[in-house]
Amino acid sequence: MPGDTVTELPETQNHDRILILDFGSQVTQLIARRVRETGVFCEVWPFNKATDETVAAFRPRGVILSGGPSSVVETGTPRAPDVVFSLGVPVLGICYGEQTMCAQLGGRVESADHREFGRATIDVVDDCLLFEGVWHSGLQVDVWMSHGDRVSALPDGFRVVARTGSAPFAAIADDERRYYGVQFHPEVLHTPDGAALLRQFVRGVAGCRGDWTMAAFKQEAMNAIREQVGSGRVICGLSGGVDSAVAAVLIHEAIGDQLTCIFVDTGLLRKGEAEQVVRLFRESYNIPLVAVDAGPTFLGRLEGVDDPEQKRKIIGKTFIDVFEEQAKAAGGADFLAQGTLYPDVIESVSFAGGPSVTIKSHHNVGGLPERMNMKLVEPLRALFKDEVRALGYELGLPAHFVTRHPFPGPGLAVRIPGMITPERIAVLQQADAIYLDEIRKAGLYDEIWQAFAVLLPVRTVGVMGDSRTYDWACALRAVTSTDGMTADYYPFPHDFLGRVANRIINEVRGINRVTYDITSKPPGTIEWE
Ligand code: XMP
Repeated sequence: MPGDTVTELPETQNHDRILILDFGSQVTQLIARRVRETGVFCEVWPFNKATDETVAAFRPRGVILSGGPSSVVETGTPRAPDVVFSLGVPVLGICYGEQTMCAQLGGRVESADHREFGRATIDVVDDCLLFEGVWHSGLQVDVWMSHGDRVSALPDGFRVVARTGSAPFAAIADDERRYYGVQFHPEVLHTPDGAALLRQFVRGVAGCRGDWTMAAFKQEAMNAIREQVGSGRVICGLSGGVDSAVAAVLIHEAIGDQLTCIFVDTGLLRKGEAEQVVRLFRESYNIPLVAVDAGPTFLGRLEGVDDPEQKRKIIGKTFIDVFEEQAKAAGGADFLAQGTLYPDVIESVSFAGGPSVTIKSHHNVGGLPERMNMKLVEPLRALFKDEVRALGYELGLPAHFVTRHPFPGPGLAVRIPGMITPERIAVLQQADAIYLDEIRKAGLYDEIWQAFAVLLPVRTVGVMGDSRTYDWACALRAVTSTDGMTADYYPFPHDFLGRVANRIINEVRGINRVTYDITSKPPGTIEWE
């Protein structure tokens, strides 16, 4: 999707869909996820890239206006395209979305003297179609508020259906036109009934069928791949992660051996991971796979390098070199398959743009398509991560593969601060494997976003048996997160940490001290480099 326009995702055309117009809220993606969870397809468009024509052509069954940081009271702030209110479909305005809807339909919004952030209790004062089956008049319910302005006069046709002391228009309804506004955020988990309200909006109010299932998507995506590729050849780089694996299996189901997969073993993977990928593809799926052991090339180029950015750049470039060479050797291809997901697509058209400072140069195969003059096949670009997992199950990928924690492109190189040597990689792989083994045994793997060991370039003194040791220290990291953008450390019970530390120190030669990293993100990052 190019940066200055929005185009719909073609494989989704046959589904009832909801359009979410984004006014810049941090949590707009959550609205989309909640809607998708109800079996309804939706897209997120930045408000300023949606025109009357594109919105009408999208034929949404309903529109949701997101929250945002602006103030409706100020001039020149975002508005929804007028067509939203002439399509004859239901509209739900959330927070800023409620305010702009009121302003655009003839109501009034003013700055509140009392700002409201965080948990609030609202009084449901009337029934309406949006609340049907969820709330009824007389209830007091918890919601998550985050707003400064408030509606002070309703447009014609609206009535108040919920209020708080400081937000007399906490929820408003016009059942006739099926327009609703809420001052709170139903998309966040802190609004316990929020998911049910969004479900009622898309299924009950907008009447969407709930036909967005991964079984249906699989079929449509396969048709779209066949149409795009024709009799061309496709190459797919496997990283060992879920996204590229799901993309590859899906493409293979669609076009069979027109697909060649290339797996570059950087020598910087977890213990046993390279073998697992090769086995899965060759044996379980019978997918043609070129597996190249490029460990020595990567290690050679990384020799003597200890700067994190340098390491990342070298690995990124080496990956492209090796991949390109292998692709040529395999006879070349017309298309390059990538496991791009919907959050990346949204990010690339967002009006706010990406972060202004580069914290880390991420390694992916981004530079390849131009260099190799290849067109892209991106069959997952309509999907969120949890949907990719569901599609993975649909395609028969084993659970242990589908539920894998994310793994960074530069691999263990960013988990070994300082110089990388084969010895250090081997030591880290062993410690990491023990840690993950204990996490799985304790049944905690799926509760954690990412867990891994880090080998510190620090030697410490210890005593084992009757002798002195002078070995490396190892840090354990485990975080919870929803998207990797922010994270909290995982609160393991102390006896669990003690057990892991004991095993690592006893079983791994070279490590005599273990620490647990309790830094959140921000201010830390998830990886150490
Ligand atoms: P940080 O360390 O920036 O990581 O908090 C956020 C998430 O991104 C992963 N990560 C990467 N993924 N290529 C990737 O594909 C990379 O270069 C890369 N660097 C970090 C990290 O594991 C975490 O999930």
